[in-house]
Amino acid sequence: MSHFAQVVRVPGDPILGLIEAYRADPNPAKLDLGVGVYKDARGLTPIPQAVKRAEQRLVETETSKSYIGGHGDPLFGARLAELVLGADSPLLAAQRAGASQTPGGTGALRLAADFIAHCLPGRGIWLSEPTWPIHETLFAAAGLRIGHYPYVGADNRLDVEAMLAALNQLPKGDVVLLHACCHNPTGFDLAPRDWKRVLEVVKARELLPLIDFAYQGFGDGLEDDAWAVRLFASELPELLVTSSCSKNFGLYRERTGALLVCAATPDKLQDVRSQLASLARNLWSTPPAHGAAVVATILDDAELKALWIDELEAMRQRVASLRLGLVEALRPYGLAERFAHIAEQRGMFSYTGLTPAQVQRLRAEDSVYLVGSGRANVAGLDANRLDDLASAIARVCG
Ligand SMILES: Cc1ncc(COP(=O)(O)O)c(C=O)c1O
Repeated sequence: MSHFAQVVRVPGDPILGLIEAYRADPNPAKLDLGVGVYKDARGLTPIPQAVKRAEQRLVETETSKSYIGGHGDPLFGARLAELVLGADSPLLAAQRAGASQTPGGTGALRLAADFIAHCLPGRGIWLSEPTWPIHETLFAAAGLRIGHYPYVGADNRLDVEAMLAALNQLPKGDVVLLHACCHNPTGFDLAPRDWKRVLEVVKARELLPLIDFAYQGFGDGLEDDAWAVRLFASELPELLVTSSCSKNFGLYRERTGALLVCAATPDKLQDVRSQLASLARNLWSTPPAHGAAVVATILDDAELKALWIDELEAMRQRVASLRLGLVEALRPYGLAERFAHIAEQRGMFSYTGLTPAQVQRLRAEDSVYLVGSGRANVAGLDANRLDDLASAIARVCG
């Protein structure tokens, strides 16, 4: 008898398929705008100098590889909570907020999902349409009821009115997932006035917000990007925030992130955290140490922190200038207005508005690789070849 005879093959992640097709493409002028990692002008995903220096320090000073606790490195948790909520956060002073270290932002999302499934039974979770595809599969894997609220209209623009109208209909007590900044996959972020309106609906419908914060520092800057999270934390008694250090610290494969909980009282925070440690025991037991130790070392050292902030700001500015550069390159083709949203979006991703057929033509005729939805990773652009890309876009749009 074959135990595995009944096991069928599932299709791979479509973005991984795109990476393979890109690798196999012999065209030297090929352009990878698919994969979701930051790239510098050389097309590389660099290790920040601040990370390198922190790692050197750790190699010299580390004395044990014994397990770290269920909530991870306490210094990492404390410094990350300050980064997200603000060093002067009244919640931190009141011991109403705490961070549990997780393997990346994905681990934080899965821990949040299991917490909701286990401790808040019956609550559904509402995701933006579209959202990061892993949100869909991860919350389904945890057994949660999933619903969607509209986010982008048929005109490829943020549709705040439709979003608010849908949120206003949600069952009381359900969980709503919001992207803190740099919405993946669209790049469309809520303006402060929109966030305030969403907050009012969250209060009126007594929803629990779960804010996914995977790109702090990539939108308008480290502090500005945290504005909505801090608004919600100051106005609501309870909140969940998932934080990822993959992009902003360049620590992708080190799996570094945290689930932050804000609770009404210090005592209730400890109740929730006890559940998180217990749930994590069944997921990964204790989190991996290295990436969090790197982040803690950087954030706890004024010099390293200043270096990291400069490096992060350079990444942010590169993406922002590529956005502007592409729109300018499209101007001679009369397409600057049509693609003006690319400059207004934030973060690495852009819902360009290119159709699946146009994406297909760009790949076949120009070796430009985008996700079928028209999502482009702006960081993958080459500043010296924006004109080539603009001419290719003009051709497939013509
Ligand atoms: C919206 C969003 N959330 C969470 C994550 C999780 O990132 P990681 O698990 O690599 O830290 C990502 C990564 O691409 C993301 O785009």
